[in-house]
Amino acid sequence: MPDSIHILVVDDEQAIRDVLSEGLNDSGYRCETACDGAEALEKFKRNGFELVVSDIDMPQMDGVQLLQEVKKVRPDTEFIMLTGVVDVDTAVQSMRMGASDYLTKPFNLAEVRITVERALEKQRLIRENREYQKDLEVRVQKRTAELSLSYQTTLEALATALDTRDTETLGHSLRVAAYTVHVAKRMGVQEPELTEIYRGALLHDVGKIGVPDAILRKPGKLTPEEWVEMRKHPEIGFRILEGIHFLEGSRQIVLSHQERFDGTGYPRGLKGKDIPLGARIFSVVDTLDAMTSDRCYRKALSYETARAEVMKYSGTQFDPGVVEVFLKIPPQEWTEIQRRVLADVASRSSSRF
Ligand SMILES: [Fe+2]
Repeated sequence: MPDSIHILVVDDEQAIRDVLSEGLNDSGYRCETACDGAEALEKFKRNGFELVVSDIDMPQMDGVQLLQEVKKVRPDTEFIMLTGVVDVDTAVQSMRMGASDYLTKPFNLAEVRITVERALEKQRLIRENREYQKDLEVRVQKRTAELSLSYQTTLEALATALDTRDTETLGHSLRVAAYTVHVAKRMGVQEPELTEIYRGALLHDVGKIGVPDAILRKPGKLTPEEWVEMRKHPEIGFRILEGIHFLEGSRQIVLSHQERFDGTGYPRGLKGKDIPLGARIFSVVDTLDAMTSDRCYRKALSYETARAEVMKYSGTQFDPGVVEVFLKIPPQEWTEIQRRVLADVASRSSSRF
């Protein structure tokens, strides 16, 4: 192993250079020498060394300056300072500047070998530790991505299950969630808010699980009392998601998805920017999805009809800022999302059996 280690010996005294380099070569290291700091730095830049053993007191560039330069070029280089007894204070100072150890003259070769081995062992441990940390980071990132994906899949399965009870349109929740994110991206929203918004839109009607079938599936118009029940669903959803840490932001969207920009919505009658952005976007794309999907009492309406409806209620039901972005999105992009979600729903149901 030592033969792969490249050591630079720097001293202005030839005899010391010879003793050190021969001694270290005999131990299996590959040594080169330099007679002052300037020559050493040039060789260091050209060849790179794992370790430098350098005299502290040299003409032109001294050991301390060399140490600083070497650390600039390759910070993880080990550096052993050679010093006369009187220089011990400087040697200690140089250790503060990043030297790994120092040797006082006169030294014996056994002492040099032990010091070199110790410095190289330290270097090896630092490198191993760094690689371990890097590997750990990669594994944590991978695991986090896997976890996030399984959360997502579970939430999508839940939303799809809720859709089958409530709406006649296949993939409604997945579609509005994808639409909402599409507009949010256009508005410059980034992660982690995008995921928060996606999940909020996906679970917007989770609270309808607490609304009786007789009301939820009633074919005719609801009575005022039934409306009171129906309007509880944002708050029921908000309570269902309580304590689920990773859904905290999404939960606010669930609570606010029936609010209207002018403050006439429910449950809190929030106005304007007090309504979370995800909920303001949701409101627009939910209208698009409701109008462009088949219902039992009518066929799907055209994109143009939905567009006209959104424009009509800009500033009252909808946030004009969101509407502006929405209107700039070409209809083909909505169709493409619809196609993608349908394919996704189909693959989910076929993989269940
Ligand atoms: Fe709702």
